[in-house]
This record gives sequence, C-alpha cells and structure tokens, in this order.
Amino acid sequence: MKLKLGILASGRGSNFFAILKSIESGEFDASIELLISDNKNANALKIAAENNIKNIYIPFDKHNRTKFELKSVKLLKKAKCDLIILAGFLHILSPYFINEFRNRILNIHPSLLPDFKGLNAQKQAIESGTKISGCTVHLVNEELDAGKIILQKKVPLFDTDTPDSLSERILIEEHKLYTEAIKLYWNQINTFNKDW
Ligand code: GRF
Repeated sequence: MKLKLGILASGRGSNFFAILKSIESGEFDASIELLISDNKNANALKIAAENNIKNIYIPFDKHNRTKFELKSVKLLKKAKCDLIILAGFLHILSPYFINEFRNRILNIHPSLLPDFKGLNAQKQAIESGTKISGCTVHLVNEELDAGKIILQKKVPLFDTDTPDSLSERILIEEHKLYTEAIKLYWNQINTFNKDW
C-alpha cells in the first residue's frame, strides 16, 4: 500500500521538494497528502501550491502550541497520514502531538547526532574543530534531537568552511538521505509491527 506522508515545514522547503521529486520520479512509492506550515510566507507553501499538494498555513504561538497542534493532528489524521515528516519545521512539538503519532514522526538534522543538537548545528561543528559532520534522520520523541537514529551520512569539513558553505554541502546529502531513510523506516515498521 502506498505510503501517505504529511509534511510540516517552516521555510525554504528544499527537503520537502526533494521528497516530492523522488516520488514523481517513481523511485519512491508514496504520496504527500498534506503540507502544513506555521509561516504564511514559507516557500514550502508555494512549492505545495505549484505542485497541487493540499497545503495549509496554521499560525503557531510558541507560548500556546495547543491550537496549532489540535488543528494539525485533526488534519493529518483526516488525511490518513502514515508518517509525519518534519522538513525544516522550526518548533518543538508537545508530548500531546508526539503521542498522537508515536514512532511516526521523522526529522532531519544537519549534524551527526548526538553531536551538535539544536540550533546552528553547522556553526557548532565548525567551532568544535571536527573534520567530519553530516546529517541524521531520526525519530522524534520528547527530547530535542534525541530520538532513535534511522540513517546518517557523513560530510567532510574543510578549513575554509563557513556555516553557509558547510550547510550547502550537507544539504545536498540531506536531499538524498531523507527519502532513503523514510523508505527504510517504513519497511522496518511493516516487518516488525504489522498491525501499525
Ligand atoms: C535543513 O538544514 C534541515 O536539516 C533542518 O532545517 C533545514 C531545512 O531546510 N532541519 P529546507 O527547508 O528543507 O530547505
């Protein structure tokens, strides 16, 4: 059965676009049922609209996540999404949301977790003096960037790197890794827990 994805994105949407392209190319048997953004100017909303993907802007109040989360959960469930894909979603989800989709929420982070959690991971990597960083696709739980790791890809650091140059190099790998990790995880879910 075709995998149904729901995507949460706050900005540029390049990972969302990469997933969409891998579906269109036939390399990935999935469909994007819904794109939700908390930012009405997000490029991700534009990409969704241009590609006839159902999309909605829902304002996010970081002091009161309830309204955003209740509406998102309702729509994602109505769309029967199997997995929720965080693609540059800039907020921390509450235990309520995580429980509604336990082990069904994936995120991509621009470092080799558990190193450099949180914001500005690329800058953190440069400042640490490491020669290798990368990206990680992981499950989302209540702890920031600490859910089970699904796949990682290493990316070298050069002495001349700035946060921007490193981000660009990592992003190229993110665009390949995310689809690969979603596929791998979905296959594992089917194998290990058929009743999901
Ligand atoms: C990526 O670097 C991703 O690792 C991080 O946020 C960025 C999103 O980029 N979580 P985009 O919106 O997918 O272009």
